[in-house]
Amino acid sequence: MVLLGPSGAGKSSLLRLLNLLDIPDAGTLTIAGEQFSFPDPHPGKLQKRAQALRCKVGMVFQQYHLWPHLTVEQNLLEAPLKVLGMDKARARDKVGELLGQLKLADKRQAWPGSLSGGQQQRVAIARALMMNPEVLLFDEPTAALDPEITKEVAEIILQLGKTGITQVIVTHEVGFARRVATRVAYLEQGRLVEYGDASLLDHPQTRRLAEFLTH
Ligand SMILES: Nc1ncnc2c1ncn2[C@@H]1O[C@H](COP(=O)(O)OP(=O)(O)OP(=O)(O)O)[C@@H](O)[C@H]1O
Ligand SMILES: [Mg+2]
Repeated sequence: MVLLGPSGAGKSSLLRLLNLLDIPDAGTLTIAGEQFSFPDPHPGKLQKRAQALRCKVGMVFQQYHLWPHLTVEQNLLEAPLKVLGMDKARARDKVGELLGQLKLADKRQAWPGSLSGGQQQRVAIARALMMNPEVLLFDEPTAALDPEITKEVAEIILQLGKTGITQVIVTHEVGFARRVATRVAYLEQGRLVEYGDASLLDHPQTRRLAEFLTH
């Protein structure tokens, strides 16, 4: 599912609500088999539930947020070992598997600072996948990448889609949206303007989305 909309539309805010990095004031949230309603009837338990939810609903940030003082492998191991308590040998195997899939096998012991933007983006994706998320949220995953690498990220997202994982992807780039979207939501000023399947990108139903697509 691709979230489109102009700057300030609320795309990043919506992603942050989907994994409870921000807590909604009102409404309901159903995601990854969990249900929440706000204001929460048991506020004392909310932080714990939100933390548990974030194990199932991962986020890949635009600025990658890799830990600069940890190698690629250490970046990937940190959360599964500390948060999930994953077995160390199993976690290491998974690191090898994911880095292989994302064509980063030779970067296992590298420092994030020595990697290109596209490589750092893929490490961030691998790190999120270490948690076996049911849902993966991407905030402008291609904003800092050249067209060639953007294509590679699209390829990765399409491959992941085949594994049954749900992906919600914020992007400004209509071309990228066309490549990866099965569903589309168009937002403006904090409101959902249009929502439907990817055919909306060719046949928008509102003038506002039509105008956005011609930019
Ligand atoms: N923590 C916050 N508290 C209050 N307002 C916020 C907060 N974060 C963002 N906003 C406001 O909410 C609106 C939506 O911001 P958001 O970052 O979600 O937009 P966006 O669609 O991701 O934009 P962009 O494409 O520029 O990243 C903006 O008007 C912004 O100023
Ligand atoms: Mg944003």
